[in-house]
Amino acid sequence: MDIVHITQCLADEEVDCLAGTHLHENCYDHIIDEDTDVYKPNGELLLKFRKGIIPLSICKQAYPSLRTGATKTYNRGTAGGNIKKDVKSNFVVAGNQTKGGYRVKKDGTLSNVWERPKPILSGLIGFTDKTSRMPYCRTTRWTNENPEKFALALPLIQFISKSFKELVPERYKAQKARCDKTIKDWVIPNSVFTTITVNKNWQTAVHKDAGDLAEGFGCMTAFSAGGYKGCNLVFPKYRTAVNMRTGDLILCDVHEWHGNTPLVPKIGVPHERISCVFYYRENMYKCGTLKKELDDVKRRNTRDGTPLYI
Ligand SMILES: [Fe+2]
Repeated sequence: MDIVHITQCLADEEVDCLAGTHLHENCYDHIIDEDTDVYKPNGELLLKFRKGIIPLSICKQAYPSLRTGATKTYNRGTAGGNIKKDVKSNFVVAGNQTKGGYRVKKDGTLSNVWERPKPILSGLIGFTDKTSRMPYCRTTRWTNENPEKFALALPLIQFISKSFKELVPERYKAQKARCDKTIKDWVIPNSVFTTITVNKNWQTAVHKDAGDLAEGFGCMTAFSAGGYKGCNLVFPKYRTAVNMRTGDLILCDVHEWHGNTPLVPKIGVPHERISCVFYYRENMYKCGTLKKELDDVKRRNTRDGTPLYI
């Protein structure tokens, strides 16, 4: 196993300017493809990568289920390349065509014409907390509608939780402590996760994860089927990338800027890349019991005071 101490390659303000942009293969110098621990210049852990650590039998069981969790959405914030225009942020990576939904002109400045971002395929599995649109904690729609598929994915979820405990014990302990304060209705059994985000064939724009527990740690895997190149996960500040394939596990600091390189299909070969992010949603410990949250939903009224649900 390799242990790497990396240097910072871009200034903080340069990396900040990459938010919402799509990276290219020229955005990294090192690509990690074998068991490696990577530490930042300040000594903090950036990531641990373990090649093929997840048993193939567990992957084969989970993949057909989890792949159905990614459905069409526009709602993925900065990762979808969907951020408000920041006129100060004109630093772009060579070859990028859009930034925050605005076309980059030949001189590197941004066009005034906003282009609606393309939909992406992504979804939530497990449980999620209150939002302004849905002010109650709930089981995600996919999980409610696919209990048998969720059950097939459990061994994978639990294996990743166990690996997290072994590989990054301090962060695991913090996340476990938060789970212990959370009503069990909202924690995936025998794991320290409340939620999984599933993405299909998605080149994320540069972003930092949001809504997960800050003192926890990002856990990811990907299923790669058919023929494609790229979609490497890049940490542009350190010009470091990871090539994640079926059975691989990455534990990483998802509060560092990160994004994917383009997914390049091999001509004439069907392909699919399903990436999964396992995490604890930071406010789930505030949720009441499943019954209480359901009662709250039933008490909701429309603007004219009539019950929303009867
Ligand atoms: Fe992310």
